[in-house]
This record gives sequence, structure tokens and C-alpha cells, in this order.
Amino acid sequence: MSGALLDELIDWLRIPSISTGEGEPADLERAAEWAAAKVREAGGEARLVRLGSHAPLVLGELRAADAGAPTVMIYGHYDVQGAGDLALWHSPPFEPEVRDGRVFARGAADDKGNFWPLLHAACALAREGRLPVHVRVFVEGEEEAGSTAAIEWLRADERGADAAVVFDSVMVDARTPAITTALRGIVMCELAVRCGERDLHSGLFGGTVRNALHVLHGLLAQVLPDADGALRAELLEGVEAPAEAERASWERLPPGDASLAEVGAVPLGDRAGAEFHERTGARPSLDVHFAEAGAPRTVIPAAARAAFSLRLAPRQDPERLRATLERLLGDALPAGCELELEWFSAAPALFDAGDPAIVLAAQALARATGIEPVLARLGGSIPIVAELAAKRIPAIVTGFVAPDDAFHAPNESFSLRGLQLGERSARELLRAFADLPSG
Ligand code: BES
Ligand code: MN
Ligand code: MN
Repeated sequence: MSGALLDELIDWLRIPSISTGEGEPADLERAAEWAAAKVREAGGEARLVRLGSHAPLVLGELRAADAGAPTVMIYGHYDVQGAGDLALWHSPPFEPEVRDGRVFARGAADDKGNFWPLLHAACALAREGRLPVHVRVFVEGEEEAGSTAAIEWLRADERGADAAVVFDSVMVDARTPAITTALRGIVMCELAVRCGERDLHSGLFGGTVRNALHVLHGLLAQVLPDADGALRAELLEGVEAPAEAERASWERLPPGDASLAEVGAVPLGDRAGAEFHERTGARPSLDVHFAEAGAPRTVIPAAARAAFSLRLAPRQDPERLRATLERLLGDALPAGCELELEWFSAAPALFDAGDPAIVLAAQALARATGIEPVLARLGGSIPIVAELAAKRIPAIVTGFVAPDDAFHAPNESFSLRGLQLGERSARELLRAFADLPSG
């Protein structure tokens, strides 16, 4: 591995470019500028585009020697999740440390370390004058917060591209690469309930007034899954059963029971492990992420807040599901109480495994890693991918994050092997895409 691959990544990881609340706009700016500078140093053009958010988009162009070559967009995100409880980190999240063949830092796996080998490979090939395709660099800084600006920009960009490569996904295990053929969408809701002007003494008023915590509880009960994980019928609208052949291919994936045991989770019903791939790949799910109200003393809370999200299966429509959720919550609200809702949503994506770009990419990954990639659906969301699909830009969603890299968690890391596999794979992918028909 070239020393620059690791050393330069470490520079990027030092910038605390958090998009999920507790970050500084100046750090998002610096992380964007860092990526733009890499493109310029390689002889390309790059600019920062601001569309009403703190996190600029990085848009760059690296040109192939052959003017008629296809155009491949490369996508990643420079924003990271907040670090959470610092006491749980063995080394500080923004002071990258290399130990046991891995680099530890927030963003090491998601997504700076995962994406950087792709950008690095494109820049290196451009500097050598050997870039086989035109590369459009598209790096954003609010993926963890919904990708609003990135979606707006891509929607308005009429040039299109012949293919996209997205390094923001995971391997099946530490050896086996994967191409992600579907991602779930998401409808995210933050709710605030108010019942009355102020908290009241529960002895003086108990039994006569609405309690905001009870009301919140009742609202959430309308949308929660049952004890086996089943959601009410209205939330399944638009779900399509996967083809038998695709379901059969899930047999090659690690068994769900083992995945649940590995993370020390309590399965949601007896069938959760057996249905792991079906449930995360082809069904919606609802989780409450946060709830807050009251205090552990004899008070009747007047206000309560919560956040939940509904992950959408491929083909479910975010606007329709959002309207359904809004109706379910609204109908359950007692008279006189107030409910404020804030929404954010992103569409699911599903690609045809037989698409020529995916076939070329699978061969390229096999050459680069020595192992045939698995084509699999994933339960997570990458909002821009649905927009690529809507524009008929075939997207190769992949990456070299392994199950134990702890992304979004304390002690996030990325293996040096993942860096190396990423760079080799990026080179093979760009080379393979020279054979795409260019439009
Ligand atoms: N890189 C992840 C998406 C992902 C998750 C890929 C799991 C592969 C496996 C991405 O950065 C992410 O965390 N997305 C958010 C998006 C949301 C905030 C709209 C997610 O899935 O929660
Ligand atoms: Mn990511
Ligand atoms: Mn993420």
C-alpha cells in the first residue's frame, strides 16, 4: 500500500466534520475543501457548491485522455456521525490511531476511509495520464442528515452519467466483497406533544388531566411493530415479494441467527433470525430512536418528544407512507392536545442484478479481490442512490467495511486491508467501465 493512502486519510479523519447536530460548520467546510484540493492536485477541476446547507457539495472533474470515454460519477460523503460517549473510545475519535492493522477514528469506515481509496485511485490514474474514463467527483457532507442538497443538485444536473460508483457500503465478511443491489428508504419523524401549559402536581390533578407522556405512549402504540415484529397492514403498502431466485441466493449470506447472536441482541420474535435477510432487505421496519418527557418525581408532564423512523422496502413510496403515518398519529391524538411533526424522507432503491454495469463491476471486483462478489440487498439507506436510479444511472454500491468495523459506534475503525482492497477495486472498476457504452 502506498504510504500516501493511509497518511492522507489520517489528515482527513482529523477534521471533525459531524453533520448530525453537534458539529461546527467550519469543519464541514474544511473537510469539503480537503477533497476538492485532492482533485485539483491531480490536475482536475473542483468547486464547492452550497445549496442552503452548512455542508458544501464537492463537485470535480478528472478527464480521461480519450475525450470520447464514458463518464463515471464517484460518490462518497465526508460528513460523519457524532462521536457519542467519549469514555467508550480507546483513543479520541478525531485523533486517528493505527493499531492491530486498523485505523481507529470516527469516519474511518463511514465514509471517509471507505470512499478515499476510490478518490485516491482516480486521482492517481489522472496524474499518470492513464484515466480510462472521465470521472465526475461528487462528495457530499450531509449524508447522515438526509442528503437534501445532494439530491437537489443531482436532480437538476442534466448531464447524467454512464454509471456511478458509490463506496459507502459493506462486505459480506472480512474476505467477501459485495455489490449492494437494494437499499431501504426511510421516513423519519420527530414529534412533540403538548397537553396543557405546564407540568402539574400529580396528587392535586392526577386522574383529571391529560398526561403528555401517556399521550405520546398512545401515539407510538399506533405505529409500533407487534411482539413478532409485524407492522400494521397500512405500513406494508407497496411491499413486493422478492423473486424466488433472489431469495434462494440469500442462502449464501451469513445466517441471520448468527448475525443477531454476534451483536448480543434479543431477536424480535422466533422467526427474526431465519427471516433476517427477508426482513432487512424486502420489508419495512419501524424503530423509535428517542423519547423524552417528565422526571422521576410526582409530576404530570405537559410536554413530551420522540423520534422514530420507518425503513421502507424497495418500491414503497415515501410520500404515501408519510401521509399514512401522519393520519395514524393524528387520529390517535386526544382532543385538546397539540402535536407537532417534523419529517424527512428518502426513497428506497433497487437495481437489476443483470444490468451490464453490474455485471462488469462484479467481474472487476472478482479480479481485484480474488473472490467472486455477492450481490445482496442491504437494510440501510443512502438517499442519493434512489436519485441515481431515478435518473437511470446504474450505480455500483459497494465498499470494504467489514462487520466488525463498528460504524456509527464507539471505536469505529477501518482495516488497512480494506483500504488496499478498496484501492485495487477502484482501479479495476474504472478500467472495466471504459467498456461501457457511453451516452
Ligand atoms: N453508509 C451508511 C449506509 C449503510 C448502512 C450502508 C448499512 C451499508 C450498511 C450511511 O452512511 C448511513 O448511515 N445512512 C443513514 C441514512 C439516513 C440518515 C437517511 C442510515 O441508513 O441510517
Ligand atoms: Mn455512509
Ligand atoms: Mn452512516
